[in-house]
Amino acid sequence: MKHAITHILAILAMTAFFSGTVLAADFEGRTKCSSCHKSQAKSWNDTAHAKAMESLKPGTRKEAKIKAKLDPDKDYTQDKDCVGCHVDGWGKKGGYTVETPKKPLAAVGCESCHGPGKSYRGDHRKGGQAFESKGTTMQRKVLADKGQDFHFEEACSACHLNYEGSPWKGAKAPYTPFTPEVDAKYTFDFDKMVKDVKAMHEHYKLDGTFVGEPKFKFHDEFQANAKEKVADKKDKKGKD
Ligand code: HEC
Ligand code: HEC
Ligand code: HEC
Ligand code: HEC
Repeated sequence: MKHAITHILAILAMTAFFSGTVLAADFEGRTKCSSCHKSQAKSWNDTAHAKAMESLKPGTRKEAKIKAKLDPDKDYTQDKDCVGCHVDGWGKKGGYTVETPKKPLAAVGCESCHGPGKSYRGDHRKGGQAFESKGTTMQRKVLADKGQDFHFEEACSACHLNYEGSPWKGAKAPYTPFTPEVDAKYTFDFDKMVKDVKAMHEHYKLDGTFVGEPKFKFHDEFQANAKEKVADKKDKKGKD
């Protein structure tokens, strides 16, 4: 009997552990992020990442497709060998699916790089409010523990370095058709690419609500050159 109870307790503990992990991995789409971070959202909108679904439509990017031995007139927008790297959260909880396609998850949005936001975005609001009213800061670790990504490299690699013979260990099918073998311009150099504001978004000055490790390795450099936010300041206390 004692044995059985220990067993049940162990199972309960595991269930709590796993459901906690799953919860932290919920994708919601970019709408929530964008309502507070208007400047980044506006800038992101002009990037290749924001247009990633367009490229899967027939008649687009003809030359690139032919070079990669794809059919330029085919509609790839529902092709499961393609869609996964052109949307948010493919195969993950709350992520994009072909069966019920949601627009805020179509294209490579905020959560593809920053991590699924359902669990940490509430702390952005709380952190922002506390900072504004009392000047208190919040540790980034609180956000990282809820799934916010401050390293980025693995996330980028899962799309950009996912091909046979890739230097990235995690590679598995379906692979990207656009490899350095097709054209050297598809070579992925993280340190260089992550500084391309035309592909990420422009960087805007932060007030300093979040502090401590993990801090992105180029954070200080990006902030030193960051622009003034456009209009989202008063929205910090906004609903989430
Ligand atoms: C979910 C998959 C995915 C993730 C994650 C991702 N990308 Fe991309 N990236 C793409 C796709 C797809 C395109 C091409 C979009 C198009 O043109 O249709 C692209 C385009 C780019 C480009 C533009 C290339 C060019 O030819 O100008 C750069 C630079 C880039 N990504 C860098 C990054 C970096 C750095 C990260 C991580 C911080 C990252 N990407 C994360 C899928 C992804
Ligand atoms: C493993 C992830 C992945 C898969 C699967 C994938 N792509 Fe992409 N795709 C990318 C990345 C990353 C880029 C950006 C490459 C770059 O510019 O460096 C990209 C870019 C593109 C581009 C723009 C290329 C250019 O130079 O303009 C097209 C078109 C495209 N993909 C179509 C497809 C199609 C069609 C499929 C399915 C047959 C597919 N992709 C499957 C990751 C992927
Ligand atoms: C392709 C990857 C990528 C995508 C997509 C992306 N970001 Fe970022 N974002 C970054 C990187 C890299 C940084 C730099 C992180 C740092 O300096 O700590 C960053 C920084 C930020 C910052 C900090 C201030 C700043 O401007 O540097 C905010 C806020 C932000 N992103 C919000 C967003 C929102 C909102 C979206 C969606 C509309 C988004 N991001 C989409 C990669 C991305
Ligand atoms: C309720 C408003 C709100 C929502 C929703 C929200 N944020 Fe934030 N976020 C903030 C505030 C406030 C800060 C602190 C800004 C500062 O210090 O200037 C912040 C900071 C950040 C930072 C900088 C972290 C650092 O290293 O200092 C990033 C990146 C970011 N948010 C991305 C996102 C993403 C991605 C989403 C959606 C999943 C999101 N935010 C949702 C309000 C919000």
